[in-house]
Amino acid sequence: MKELYNSIFHRKSIRKYDMSPLQPDVLSEIKQYVSNVKPLVPTIKVDFSYLTAENVKNPLPVKAPHYICIYSEKVEHYLMNVGFMLQQVDLYLSAKSIGSCWLGMAKPANGALLKMNGMDFVIMLAFGNAAEPLHRASISEFKRKAQNEIGALSEVFDIQDAVRLAPSATNSQPWFLTGSAERIQIHRVKLGTVKAIIYDKLNQIDIGIALCHLYIAAMEKGKNVEFLYDKNDEDKAPKGYEYMMTAVLY
Ligand SMILES: Cc1cc2nc3c(=O)[nH]c(=O)nc-3n(C[C@H](O)[C@H](O)[C@H](O)COP(=O)(O)O)c2cc1C
Repeated sequence: MKELYNSIFHRKSIRKYDMSPLQPDVLSEIKQYVSNVKPLVPTIKVDFSYLTAENVKNPLPVKAPHYICIYSEKVEHYLMNVGFMLQQVDLYLSAKSIGSCWLGMAKPANGALLKMNGMDFVIMLAFGNAAEPLHRASISEFKRKAQNEIGALSEVFDIQDAVRLAPSATNSQPWFLTGSAERIQIHRVKLGTVKAIIYDKLNQIDIGIALCHLYIAAMEKGKNVEFLYDKNDEDKAPKGYEYMMTAVLY
């Protein structure tokens, strides 16, 4: 957990890769880690598969030797669950000095691979050895909103800062935190109809990513975390935001 926490402060998206494949033992260690990542909602069925560059269709020019795809059943909170799970992998890879990048536009080239065992392809992460600097030296290298733009949690600065540094699609950072040290609500920015066409799904994945950072920071502080959707918290959303999830820290 300590190494994932440290990754939060040094990771970055890697978009240039050494195209030689990772060593088989490194790859199998990664697959082993992936098969054990913690879900946000344990009842949601998910699965993972691995692709190489020739089997991926990506309109943007990020090419890597490996890609991990996540599949899920489409039930309530599945997008947050996917973000929560795959962000653990992003942080793990960074801790292992392997580059990675979330790809919101990429899809398996073979249309048949958009489905697997009754689940749908949701999103993928590119990964491999980096052909550019792998880590940020300090927090000042992150382009992120200020603390007061993403939350009002003065008591748990460290947890809020871990959320603040989370990656998000087009770096939109659509989250806002309210609550107390024991009970934190996360909200998502409301989108206009045009933006929603592209970002409605990605922003829900982003919230799952932020919850992953919240979870790792809370565990690092010796807290356990339980996630729940509480209808009574819906009215805690500030203007322009929609309530998504509550984290109970104990
Ligand atoms: C859900 C999601 C989708 C993303 N899709 C892409 C993408 O298609 N192409 C890309 O180059 N980067 C993509 N990114 C990376 C973001 O642009 C990046 O995380 C953000 O700008 C912050 O930069 P950092 O990750 O280096 O801290 C995506 C990130 C997330 C979380």
